[in-house]
Amino acid sequence: IRTRVGIVGAGPAGLMLAHLLHLQGIESVVLEARSRQEVEGTIRAGILEQNTVDLLVEAGVGDRLLAEGHRHTGTQIRFAGQGRRIDFEALTGRAVTVYPQHEVLIDLIARRLADGGDIRFGAGDVEVHEHTGSRPFITFVDGDGQRQRLECELVAGCDGSRTATRNLIPEPAVRTDYFRQYPFVWFGILAEAPRTSDELIYAHSPSGFALCSTRTETVQRHYLQVSVDDTVEDWSDARIWDELHRRVDGPGAEVREGAIFAKSVLPFRSFVCEPMQSGRLFLAGDAAHTVPPTGAKGMNLAMADVWVLADAMTGFLVSGDRRGLDGYTAAVLPRVWRAQHFSWWMSTMLHTAPDASPFDIRRQEAELDTVTSSDAGRTLIAENYTGLPLRERV
Ligand code: DHB
Repeated sequence: IRTRVGIVGAGPAGLMLAHLLHLQGIESVVLEARSRQEVEGTIRAGILEQNTVDLLVEAGVGDRLLAEGHRHTGTQIRFAGQGRRIDFEALTGRAVTVYPQHEVLIDLIARRLADGGDIRFGAGDVEVHEHTGSRPFITFVDGDGQRQRLECELVAGCDGSRTATRNLIPEPAVRTDYFRQYPFVWFGILAEAPRTSDELIYAHSPSGFALCSTRTETVQRHYLQVSVDDTVEDWSDARIWDELHRRVDGPGAEVREGAIFAKSVLPFRSFVCEPMQSGRLFLAGDAAHTVPPTGAKGMNLAMADVWVLADAMTGFLVSGDRRGLDGYTAAVLPRVWRAQHFSWWMSTMLHTAPDASPFDIRRQEAELDTVTSSDAGRTLIAENYTGLPLRERV
């Protein structure tokens, strides 16, 4: 098989890159280890920055998102028994949209297939070869068990946080020590229940963080900070609702219960791989950087990466101009690090560390008071949460 760009991974980064390249007349092949069903059914985050919405709409894949997504013009931050609203729209003129990641993937896959795009699901043993030369190729075992060889001019590593392509960025150039593990994780549920509130609630409490999010009028997504050793079995439905009430309820908020139909534990890590490229291999999304979920930056960063990468690849493949490719890492890293900071900051400000002292809790409450009681503080949150504008290439 021969194509121009070999893309490893059919997540937001890989599929959006394939689509953006297609719009510029460049063909690609996407190799994905999982089945289409699995890709389209895995529950992930649900918040799209204004940038991501604009990008999907401009790229012609935003119809369902505009029809079915819910625009949120603000959010509530709760601490010390009170709620403070951050009005994104009034402070920045921007907003976010609740539209789950797997719906974005369903839309991108449908559009790719309608455009004659080539996505190989169930591709095993994917290996990138000779990416430091001028003729890289990728070997894999297809869904029928046949060994295949994909020849291409450029390779994109979009294979998520459990990436294999990242390991091809050679030492000593690569930094793998930009890493941080957090002393807590999230327990996420989906419940058949009415909305707790019209907007998301991020709640700090002495017993830990809680987040009330939403999917539809009748399906809600909630998260609880739990211990790193906790498993799904440790959390009965009754214990989950008890804890959500304890951490969230108060004046102006009361968690509304329902039937829980999905439970999962989400890891909490920060990681950046620098540089994000080697020879003809370019990493995008979680393959290159992972953020903790507080602040919902993961998918949005992936989209921002490929927005830059698609142009850089096009410049090279259409007119032989290497400048975009050479400057790819430098172009996207400032945004990556600012999102790292924001995700780390929101995580540390809102969660209760296992060894938190009474002083630490009161200090956090004071910090939350500082940032939510002035327009300057609220704007800082609103700008970062709704996303730094893409056009500035921050
Ligand atoms: C959701 C996830 C997040 O990480 C977040 O900060 C807000 C919402 C969600 O899945 O709805």
